[in-house]
Amino acid sequence: MNQQNNCDVLIIGSGAAGLTLALHLAKNADVVILSKGPLNEGSTFYAQGGIAAVFDENDSIASHVADTMIAGAGLCDEKTVLYTAENAKACLNWLIEQGVTFDKEESEQGERYHLTREGGHSHRRILHSADATGKVIQTTLADRVRQHSRIRIFERYNAIDLICESHEEEGKSKQCIGAYIWNRNTEKVESIYAQKTILATGGASKVYQYTSNPDVSSGDGIAMAWRAGCRVANMEFNQFHPTCLFHPDAGTFLLTEALRGEGAKLRRPDGSRFMPAFDHRAELAPRDIVARAIDFEMKRLGVDCMYLDISHKPRDFIKQHFPTIYQRTKDFGIDITKQPIPVVPAAHYTCGGVMIDQQGKTDVHQLYAIGEMSYTGLHGANRLASNSLLECLVFARAAAIEISESLKPNNRFINLPRWDESRVTDSDEEVVIQHNWHELRLFMWDYVGIVRTTKRLERALHRVELLQREIQEYYQHFKVSNNLLELRNLVQVAELIIRCAMSRKESRGLHYTLDYPEQLAETKPTILNPND
Ligand code: FAD
Ligand code: SIN
Repeated sequence: MNQQNNCDVLIIGSGAAGLTLALHLAKNADVVILSKGPLNEGSTFYAQGGIAAVFDENDSIASHVADTMIAGAGLCDEKTVLYTAENAKACLNWLIEQGVTFDKEESEQGERYHLTREGGHSHRRILHSADATGKVIQTTLADRVRQHSRIRIFERYNAIDLICESHEEEGKSKQCIGAYIWNRNTEKVESIYAQKTILATGGASKVYQYTSNPDVSSGDGIAMAWRAGCRVANMEFNQFHPTCLFHPDAGTFLLTEALRGEGAKLRRPDGSRFMPAFDHRAELAPRDIVARAIDFEMKRLGVDCMYLDISHKPRDFIKQHFPTIYQRTKDFGIDITKQPIPVVPAAHYTCGGVMIDQQGKTDVHQLYAIGEMSYTGLHGANRLASNSLLECLVFARAAAIEISESLKPNNRFINLPRWDESRVTDSDEEVVIQHNWHELRLFMWDYVGIVRTTKRLERALHRVELLQREIQEYYQHFKVSNNLLELRNLVQVAELIIRCAMSRKESRGLHYTLDYPEQLAETKPTILNPND
């Protein structure tokens, strides 16, 4: 008999989205937060550049909206963009109230926030904590959550699947009543009942061989929601960050776009610049354009990397604004105050995801989604830098209001169907998982990467279908493990990415295919429905 836990609200994921929601809700509800690894491990912790919001009196909401829409290449939902930009300042002020500190500077009018700049922004608009903004946000919110008496933290627990029952309301045919969860500490499957379940599991960039993301970004929430019957949208728009450190021992370490915002230039191995030839905004063009230009130059010249150069700036300025990057690159023998940094693009952000409304509601009753795993319409075909943490905060707050209002008092716990392990044994062939992991991520990088073709996408789909059969069979016969659960989710997400990419017969934003290099005059989001 597997153990059943109960709560009012189950939040799956402990990044900016999940922690923000928990803190907003805990006044009114008993909350459980699930975290696959240590509480702080997720993309939020590694965010560098900052959060976009209009704080400068010469800037405007209209300009933030316009920049977001331009970067999104005609596919943003204007209402969502406006809603997000309008709510940005209040959400940032809430963060500041929680104890998050952003860099300040002296001005003629007194002290004010130092705003940095990133690609696609026409103003200085990014609040930041040097180059470790995410770490400050994550650790501050996590400390608050740890101190809260109505929040229980389930660390090192993987959500496996949502538990749903049939239900007719608001045109929805299913209701979520909790989840099966794998306790990594005991290696046992448990269940958890919740009146409301929120997915906040982050993105899926680990589906690619090279990524700026931590290991937890395996698209679990998107795959779980899809299996539960939720629609997904725009999965073809995978953002590749142009500048990750290229070094054999570095793994993938991001070099924030704020470096370019503060004047860093991209150079070929011979020192010449190339971005002005690709776009009039040069190094500050939106990410899709910069990443494609780097990829193009690397392939044209047959070289392993390009170079990012900020060495013309004063040494003290560099060390003050980019202390993390200065130290990390120094560990690899690179002094960025004197020499250019070798860089390559890497998968960075999942622009599409589970479709939600402006309150975070999905297609399944009592199931919500927020943060990078959701699709709100904010990012369109390409996310504007530093709009992601903002989306986490804005939609966590909106979902909190909706959930607080609709939570029924006197929550009565339901007995959940038990997890059946009677037909599974311990795995005797871990090698199958390892092999499939590598194969999947490699062909996604090669066939479904920065530049695509129809033939490559067809090849990838064929491979994914084979892997899905193999992994499903494995899943039915062997006990779960972290690698198996993640692989099962990644292969599902890969299929969704490929199917969305195949249905888009044009190049737009982050989706670029040699077979349809032009943009169509009219476009709409790509939507996939598991019930079709
Ligand atoms: P995450 O912070 O990724 O958290 C996901 C959580 O879900 C984790 O706690 C994880 O353990 C949990 N989880 C996942 N699957 C399961 C499961 N099955 N069961 C239980 N728990 C699960 N954006 C900006 O706006 N500005 C920036 O400067 C910026 N810089 C970035 C730099 C880097 C290196 C990276 C990788 C991203 C950056 N981004 C930035 C993007 C931004 O950080 C993320 O989009 C954002 O932090 C996502 O937050 P989240 O809460 O949705 O997910
Ligand atoms: C960066 O600092 O370059 C990342 C910013 C982002 O992903 O929004």
